[in-house]
Amino acid sequence: MAARAEFIGDTGESAPARWEPPFGTGQVHVVLSLLAADQESLAVVVERARKAHAQLPGLQVVHRQDFYQLSTGRTSFGYKDGIGNPTIEGSGAESPPGDGSVLKAGEFVLGYPDETGNLPPMPQPAELGRNGTFVAWRKLHTRVAAFRRYLHDNSDSPEEESLLAAKIVGRWQSGAPLILAPEHDDPALGADDQRNNGFRYESDPRGAICPHGAHARRANPRDSEIIGDIRLHRMIRRGTNYGPPLPAGTLDDDGADRGIVFVFIGSHLDRQFEFVKSQWLNDGHFTGLDQEKDLLTGNNDGTGIFTIPQYPIRRRLHGVERFVITRGGEYFFLPSLSALRWLANPAA
Ligand code: HEM
Repeated sequence: MAARAEFIGDTGESAPARWEPPFGTGQVHVVLSLLAADQESLAVVVERARKAHAQLPGLQVVHRQDFYQLSTGRTSFGYKDGIGNPTIEGSGAESPPGDGSVLKAGEFVLGYPDETGNLPPMPQPAELGRNGTFVAWRKLHTRVAAFRRYLHDNSDSPEEESLLAAKIVGRWQSGAPLILAPEHDDPALGADDQRNNGFRYESDPRGAICPHGAHARRANPRDSEIIGDIRLHRMIRRGTNYGPPLPAGTLDDDGADRGIVFVFIGSHLDRQFEFVKSQWLNDGHFTGLDQEKDLLTGNNDGTGIFTIPQYPIRRRLHGVERFVITRGGEYFFLPSLSALRWLANPAA
């Protein structure tokens, strides 16, 4: 990932030279995710992993990153995340009503045809590559106080502030999509898995309800009119938090390191993760927004702009700074369970 830094916008404060070691040094060869329902059961899983690792003398633990999911399912910025994910053909899951896009399994699992009808390149031999996929793992520091202050300084009331926040993300904090709840948050809608992902942007071609520059609309324009095939740029995301949450209402930075561990999963690191990051989030050309970058995650430098289409005169915010800093990241191959068994015992 460090070698692709310029392309994916990891520049300035986010440049690999400033990443936390060992990210970007070439020392990271394997990542092991240990998941548990609570701290007690996590300790048991970690102990199991430690014992297994002790039998593998070639491996050395170079880093440990603790992370957790808030019971609200919210991220450090206060929004519910993890709603917009693709439905995969053959998985048994049905696309939510109104979403209408089921994607070929090969977009996410190696060894099957993707949306182009081809088999994506995969590690060889087939025993290793088949049913595997690729992962982009990123540790993203979030400047929560600065983001809250930016919202506060650009609004005249708490109501205006939460509407502005929704225009920036494309969803209210509860997860309710702006396009289905244009004026107020609707927590029941945000919590309803059948409805919170069942929408398109056809009723809002000018972005008067959900700006073209909103994070979720940039990252998945759905049926918005753009050049290219949106279906080739979808991704599975699994994000979670690290660090303590900033207490509600605080506008001053407390110096704590907090943010998101962002995980991309898909068969094509380049046309899925890198394309969305470089073209849709960090470049405004695709929506006709010139140099405008994603306000939430873009590599802005204090001179960024954010346009909110509205009648009779659009609103334009200036002075957008960088609210998300990359602290490190790596690309990985994620083998299937059968590939792990094959690695453990190739002759079987
Ligand atoms: C700290 C960084 C980030 C934060 C706080 C963040 C936050 C969010 C939130 C709150 C949503 C709306 C909830 C949802 O639709 O699931 C969202 C959606 C999304 N984000 Fe991010 N995000 C971050 C980074 C990224 C990056 C780096 C990418 C891709 C390279 C990305 C891609 C997406 C996609 C694809 C969606 C779903 C849009 C949809 O299907 O409607 N995000 N993000």
